[in-house]
Amino acid sequence: MNTIQNKVVFITGGGHGIGLSLGKVFAGHGAKVVLADIDEERLNTAKALLAESGFDVETIVCDVAKAESVKSAADFTVERFGKVHIVINNAGVSLAGKPGSIPLEDWRWIVDINLMGVVYGVEVFVPLIRSHGEGGYIINTASMAGHIAGPSMSPYHATKYAVVGYSESIRQDLQAENIGVSVLCPAWVRTDIHNAGINKPSLAQQSASDKKAFDPGVSGFAAVIESGIAPDALAQWVYECMLAERFYIFSHPSMTQHIETRAGNIAADYSAIEEDGRFSEY
Ligand SMILES: NC(=O)c1ccc[n+]([C@@H]2O[C@H](COP(=O)([O-])OP(=O)(O)OC[C@H]3O[C@@H](n4cnc5c(N)ncnc54)[C@H](O)[C@@H]3O)[C@@H](O)[C@H]2O)c1
Repeated sequence: MNTIQNKVVFITGGGHGIGLSLGKVFAGHGAKVVLADIDEERLNTAKALLAESGFDVETIVCDVAKAESVKSAADFTVERFGKVHIVINNAGVSLAGKPGSIPLEDWRWIVDINLMGVVYGVEVFVPLIRSHGEGGYIINTASMAGHIAGPSMSPYHATKYAVVGYSESIRQDLQAENIGVSVLCPAWVRTDIHNAGINKPSLAQQSASDKKAFDPGVSGFAAVIESGIAPDALAQWVYECMLAERFYIFSHPSMTQHIETRAGNIAADYSAIEEDGRFSEY
């Protein structure tokens, strides 16, 4: 894809953070943008902000954890703009906790949003992109947390590793159909992601004042997010990587060493079975 002028872009989690910045950047380069988010108030603020710049932007309330909600948002996009070319499956939440103490309802909540939300975006929109024959592009937001894992965030890592693997696979399936795929894998970006766990099901019965005392569950999480790169700067990089059809979109050069360490650990354990000699016929 060498231009996005007049292309239609659908972005989930578009009410805030990275999704909103992607909306700004893509609209700024001439695309027609639909921002989808579960939070209507955020969408209203986002729409007003983008309207100030004269951008062609629509918003739609959508819960990516529900396939029928994603389908309704897709219908809305086609009704409003006629077709869709680019889908950015970006909505996501964070969830911390130690194994053996994470409520299963919270596990299902993050899997339904971070993984199934991406799957629904692909299953609903790929047939629509196929139908107009003009080609298209899918960007799935994973994370650096989909390549290297630290402690106390296992649900988040599990979903983000899944999105990386899923994207690596569908990229090969969609290549021949002129539908490009990238997976966005940033490290720290200055957004509200550290507070997303406030909406986890196990806190649903808590009063608003108790929720105010919400603790993300990982020491220093808020500080590290607040020290991250600006979402507008990341969004511009994402736009450039999409035009260059770069599959992995990374943000923090300083993280390369962690990728190399992980690759080294895998190679070391691989060489153990090679050196041992058993299974050598396989
Ligand atoms: N901020 C970071 O450091 C960072 C790093 C790597 C990856 N990410 C990923 O970037 C994506 C965007 O997050 P962000 O950092 O902009 O956070 P954010 O919390 O600022 O924005 C996320 C948006 O997603 C929306 N959302 C949450 N659940 C939803 C649902 N069920 N349906 C539709 N919308 C929903 C929220 O209302 C919010 O507006 C996420 O997938 C996140 O995991 C963030």
